[in-house]
Amino acid sequence: MIYLFLYADSFRKSALEELGKVGSPRIISEQHNLMIADISSRKIRELDGATFIYGYFPLVEGYEIDQKRYINSIKKGFYRLGLDKKEPLRLECFDVNCKRGYSAKDIEVAIGKELEGLRYSIDLKSADTLAYCVLMDSKCYWGRINIATHPHGFIDPFRENKEKKVSRAEFKIIEAFREFGIKAPKIAIDIGAAPGGWSLFLAKKGASVIAIDSGRLEYDKIRKEGVGVRIIKDVKHFGIARNGPRPGSIVHLVCRLDKAYPALYGLEVDLVGDDINAGGIESASAVMMYSRLMRRGAMLIMTLKCMHKNVGIYMKEVEARIGPKFNIRRWKVLPHNRQEITLFAVRK
Ligand SMILES: C[S@@+](CC[C@H](N)C(=O)[O-])C[C@H]1O[C@@H](n2cnc3c(N)ncnc32)[C@H](O)[C@@H]1O
Repeated sequence: MIYLFLYADSFRKSALEELGKVGSPRIISEQHNLMIADISSRKIRELDGATFIYGYFPLVEGYEIDQKRYINSIKKGFYRLGLDKKEPLRLECFDVNCKRGYSAKDIEVAIGKELEGLRYSIDLKSADTLAYCVLMDSKCYWGRINIATHPHGFIDPFRENKEKKVSRAEFKIIEAFREFGIKAPKIAIDIGAAPGGWSLFLAKKGASVIAIDSGRLEYDKIRKEGVGVRIIKDVKHFGIARNGPRPGSIVHLVCRLDKAYPALYGLEVDLVGDDINAGGIESASAVMMYSRLMRRGAMLIMTLKCMHKNVGIYMKEVEARIGPKFNIRRWKVLPHNRQEITLFAVRK
């Protein structure tokens, strides 16, 4: 069976090793951060817990695109999927090297219009099925998935970027919640919070959020989303019992992590998010300091910045440092992780 595999460029070597472990697929084509390869459908399930591969999609065998009848020749692959006209459908074209000046959008629109004319039910917002077409080299591949049972629902994760976010980082926490099946916390601490994407996401989930960063959050954008933010500069005299955030709002402690910790002493939190831009050891040390404020079973989401390719060393260093206090659940390179990997762990 042919599949499309997605992975991050920075972790290509590790992604290929991971693929090799589940049965050395035959590589048909590879470009940028994706690969088309043949692998047994029995083996593919083993990739569900993969760390370095963030998506795989089944494909119908590719066929040569007729360069003269470009869009028409791509269209014909759709009919091979045998879709029911009644099932709401979203179409997505993912082109790696589009020829003749067409964009993926042009192709989607052209095919979508024809399908609507033929009374297929196209629904971009709440479709049941995603039909996709991948153009790689001179070939076109088609595939389909059930959106509800697929973890991402988009073949191209950057499609979701349409809305304006406070920071690109916000996607990382959205993806972590989805990937690790995390439930909304009541009280959360966001360490290294600026400009505030993670804090906003957590507050919108109903959490009381303590955001810690010496930098500024995007206060206006956050408030526009209906989330209140209180800014505390005099952290020494901040009393958490009196001045803690209400559910669904943020208190921003404007200081370094070591200065904020004493002001929070006695607090019991359900989640710590750590996205600080520091090396693994420094980040893990910060987590250890804040672990004292975490109740048993509380969750940790932490990104680990990987400056060079030998990511296994970084992961081991972090595990050794936080292992005494945490059960490591999973590492995963998420679609919006660039040169980093996300860890999900639970407080012992
Ligand atoms: C990648 S940004 C975080 C983005 C954030 N998660 C979001 O969603 O917008 C990293 C942040 O960590 C902060 N940081 C790094 N070391 C820190 C420290 N020791 N104390 C406080 N903040 C720190 C930086 O100021 C920076 O704003």
